[in-house]
Amino acid sequence: MRNLFPYEHQIRLLAGIILLGLASSSNDWILLTAGIGLIYTGASGYCPLFQVLGINAQRARNNYHLSLIPAHNPEPIYLFNRHGDLVFRNAAAKNILVNLRSMDDLHEVEDHTDFNAEHGLELLSFHDKGSHYLLNFDPIPGTELIAAYGFDATKLLKTREDIIESQKELIFRMGEIGETRNLQAGNHVKSVAEYSEQLALLSGLRLEDIELMKMASPLHDIGKVAIPDSILLKPGKLNEDEWEIMKTHASIGYELLRHSDRPVMRVAAIIAAQHHEKWDGSGYPNGLAGREIHIYGRITALADVFEALGSERVYKKAWPLEKILDYLEQEKGKHFDPDLVDLFRQNLPLFLNIREQNQVPTMRLVG
Ligand SMILES: [Fe+2]
Ligand SMILES: [Fe+2]
Repeated sequence: MRNLFPYEHQIRLLAGIILLGLASSSNDWILLTAGIGLIYTGASGYCPLFQVLGINAQRARNNYHLSLIPAHNPEPIYLFNRHGDLVFRNAAAKNILVNLRSMDDLHEVEDHTDFNAEHGLELLSFHDKGSHYLLNFDPIPGTELIAAYGFDATKLLKTREDIIESQKELIFRMGEIGETRNLQAGNHVKSVAEYSEQLALLSGLRLEDIELMKMASPLHDIGKVAIPDSILLKPGKLNEDEWEIMKTHASIGYELLRHSDRPVMRVAAIIAAQHHEKWDGSGYPNGLAGREIHIYGRITALADVFEALGSERVYKKAWPLEKILDYLEQEKGKHFDPDLVDLFRQNLPLFLNIREQNQVPTMRLVG
């Protein structure tokens, strides 16, 4: 049993001896009893008053809970009993989530929760006092307690965000160079990325795949870096030989990207390789058909063509919307995945909205 403050037992012992001295000189039995009591509790470390007030029990519980968690942890830790009531918080948790009383209260503060079915790990994210915390729940073996280990992830998440943003920017710039090797590329790759994202959402792809696809799709024409200027920037139609060279940009793009293990690069490699494949098998470079073409390839194909037809090029004017929609309908099941064309038409306002946002009045592109 610990003292309430340093030398508390010794002070009680000393006070008892002084009271005994006073009692012997004054023959006061009350002082005598109090003196004996203080000497007993001081020497034995046992204090009935603390017992009555529950101070010892509270302290014992605290010591028990402290013994279950890593010592000197500067991050907040909360312990919950099997009913979900908060039974303990360490010093670092004193000022964070001050109103937390039970696990149920966490639902009010959480931004989101990640549950990893494989590891049974649940990670709850919340903001408090301008910081972003993650809570990781773990049952404490041999007890009925669940520990919630907090982690101040503010700086880490900021750094992660910066890295992701720089990656996006880099990919985007590379895509623009691939498209025209000319940095006044306008909004072609941006629009294609946004149409693709919208189509992916409507197709019911998983959110993380949609995000990857949006990041990767600006690289669909990266293989054009290897196409000579005389072909890439030719005003007017390409002859047959030139067209064959132009078509190699799909497999060149795939070769450029396929060696990376990064998920975004793997998606980009698929898109570069397959964005000119056609649903009926008449596309290039591999003549894939139907669902042999990855959904990423099918989506980008539609997004890319919709964007290109609606924009002015050195060899053609922008097509009016009616003509584009007729073309999509005509190519449904030929060039394009019929389901995607239906989704596109049923949700046309969403795509027109993206188009309006990205409109550049004097854009002249080759693509
Ligand atoms: Fe292309
Ligand atoms: Fe393109």
